[in-house]
Amino acid sequence: MCGISGATGAEKAGQIAFDGLKKLEYRGYDSFGVAMRTGSGIHTYKKEGKISDSKFKPMQTTEAIGHSRWATHGEVNQVNSHPHSQGSVTLVHNGTVTNYVALKRALEKEGYEFISETDSEIVAALLDEYIQEGKTPKQAIIAASSQIQGDNSFVFMIDGQEGIWAFNLGRPIRVGIADGVSYIGSDVQAFLEHTNIVNYLDKGDACYLHQEDRKYFSCYDGKEIKKEDISIDIEPSSVEKGNYAHFMQKEIFEQTSSINVSLDQDSVKMSMASDLIKYADRVFIIGSGTSHKVAMVAEYWLAKNGRIYARACASTELSSWMQFIGNESLVIAISQSGETADVISAVRGAQERGASVLALTNIARSELDEISDVTIPLQVGIEKAVASTKATTAQMAIMYQLAKMVDNELGEGLINLVDLSSGLSEQLNPNYIKHVEDMADVILKQLGYTENGNGDQIQKNSMIIIGRDILYPIALESAIKIQEVSYIHAQGFAAGELKHGPLALIEKGIPCIVLGDDDRTINEAVKARARGACILGISAQKHEVFDHWLSVPNRHDVYAIATLIPMQLLSYFLAIKQGRDPDFPRNLAKAVTVE
Ligand code: M6R
Repeated sequence: MCGISGATGAEKAGQIAFDGLKKLEYRGYDSFGVAMRTGSGIHTYKKEGKISDSKFKPMQTTEAIGHSRWATHGEVNQVNSHPHSQGSVTLVHNGTVTNYVALKRALEKEGYEFISETDSEIVAALLDEYIQEGKTPKQAIIAASSQIQGDNSFVFMIDGQEGIWAFNLGRPIRVGIADGVSYIGSDVQAFLEHTNIVNYLDKGDACYLHQEDRKYFSCYDGKEIKKEDISIDIEPSSVEKGNYAHFMQKEIFEQTSSINVSLDQDSVKMSMASDLIKYADRVFIIGSGTSHKVAMVAEYWLAKNGRIYARACASTELSSWMQFIGNESLVIAISQSGETADVISAVRGAQERGASVLALTNIARSELDEISDVTIPLQVGIEKAVASTKATTAQMAIMYQLAKMVDNELGEGLINLVDLSSGLSEQLNPNYIKHVEDMADVILKQLGYTENGNGDQIQKNSMIIIGRDILYPIALESAIKIQEVSYIHAQGFAAGELKHGPLALIEKGIPCIVLGDDDRTINEAVKARARGACILGISAQKHEVFDHWLSVPNRHDVYAIATLIPMQLLSYFLAIKQGRDPDFPRNLAKAVTVE
C-alpha cells in the first residue's frame, strides 16, 4: 500500500504534504515524491529510499501532493516514483489498474510516450487526453472512471489551474477540513496534526479542493454529493514512537494494556457475532499472513470451546471452497488494516453466494468494515510497525471471547483474558526481557552470526519452530514474525510432523524452538536434539531436553497468546541485533492493497 498526502490553501503546503508522507511512510517506503505548484508551474521532486532519511526541503507553495511508494509495476527507482506527469496532469495513485496495457496501447496511438513502467503514468495521460479534448476536469474524471479497471484512488493537479482533484475507485481517500485549508490523504494520519475533522470519499466519489472550497461529486454521473463532517478521535501523539526505539517495540509493550481494551466491546454486537457463528451452517475464518494464523488459532478455539466446526483458510485460498458457501454460511474476515485486497476479494466472492460476513478489524470505515454485516473493532489504536503484534493479540482475544460466548462461558473466558492481560506487565519485566535477548544471542551464535557491520553475516540461515495443538499456529505465526523483521529463514511445523520430513533439515546446532512442554511435544524435541539441534524451550515448565529455556506463565486456555508475546520480542531482538530496522522490513508494506 502506498501513502498519499497533500494540501491546498496552506502557506507551506509542500512541507505539509512532505510531513504527511513521513507519517505514512510505513505504508510504503521504496521511494517518495512531492509535486508543488508555484508561480512558474508544477515542480516535482522524487527520490528513491526512505522519506525519513531524506534531506528534501520543500518549496514555498500553497498547493502540493505527495506519495510514498510500495512498488507494484516497475522496479524501485526515481522514474517509477510518483507523482507522474503527462501533459497538463500531475498525479499520484494507490492501487492497480488491471487493464493498463490496453489503455497504454490506445494512448500510445494518440502520441503519448511513457517514461516509467507504472500503470499510474497511464492514468495521468488518460486524464490529460480528455482535458486536451476540451473536457472539464470533472468530465475527465467521469470519462476516465468508466475506462479504468481495478481498485484504485487518484489525486492530481492540473498545470495552470489551481486546486486538487481526487477520485476513489476502490482505495481510501480522506479529506481534512480546516479554515481556508483542505488536506487530503489516503489515511487521516497524513494531516491529523492539522485537523481531526474529516470527509470520507466512498468508492465512486470524487472531489475538487481549493483552499476551503470543497466540492464532492459522483465519478459515474457527476451528481453532487453531500459529505458529513466527521470528528476523528485519535490523539496525534499516540501515533508517535515516544521513548521507544521502534514502533514494533512500542506496540509489543502496549499489549500490557491493549488486550484489556480490546475486550471492552459493545455487548449487543458481540451477541450478534456469536449468534452468527452459532447459527451458521458453515463457518469459514479467513485472513492473510498473520491474520490467517489468528484464523487458525480461532479454528481451534471454536472447536474446543464453542464446539463449532469451522475452517480456517488463507483468504487467497477461499475460492476453492466457494461451492460450500451459501446464504446460511458465515465468513469471519480478520484483517488489521481492513484493506487487504486478498481478504476483500474473498469476502466479496462469499457475499455473492449469500454468505454473512463478520469482520474483525482495527480500522473503522475501512473497506472491510463497510462491506461486512457486523464488525468487531480491535480498539488497539493505530499499529504502525509492519510486523503485526498488538492487533494480532487483540484479534486472538476477541476470537477467544466469541468462542466462549458460543459455549455460554463468557464469564470464564473474560476471567482468563483479564488474568492474561494483567499478568503481562509482570511478565515483561526487565529481567525477563534480558532472558529473551539472551535467547536471541544464542540463536544468532548457532547460526554463525558475526558482527561486522554489514548486516549479512549469518552462516546458516535456517531455524525451526515446533508446537502442537493451538501452539501449532503460534509456531507458524512466530516464524512469520522472525522472517519479516530478521530475514532469518524460520519455519513453523506441527510438532508431530517433524519426523515426517522436516527432520532431514536438522544439522548440528540448528536452532529448534519448542513451544510448550507437553509429553508429545517433548517427544518430538528429543528426536530433533538426538540429531544435533539446539533446543530452545518456551514453555511453563523447564524440561531437561531444553538447551535454553524461557518461561511462559500458565494462562489456562489463552496460554497460546502468552506464548506468542515472547516470540514477538525474540523476533524484534533478532532484527535489531543484526542491525536491521524492524519497522521497515525489506519488500513489505503495512497493508497489501493489491492482489
Ligand atoms: O491488515 P491485515 O491484517 O489484513 O494484513 C494481513 C497481512 O498482510 C499481515 O498480517 C502481514 O502478514 C504482517 N506483516 C505480519 O506481521
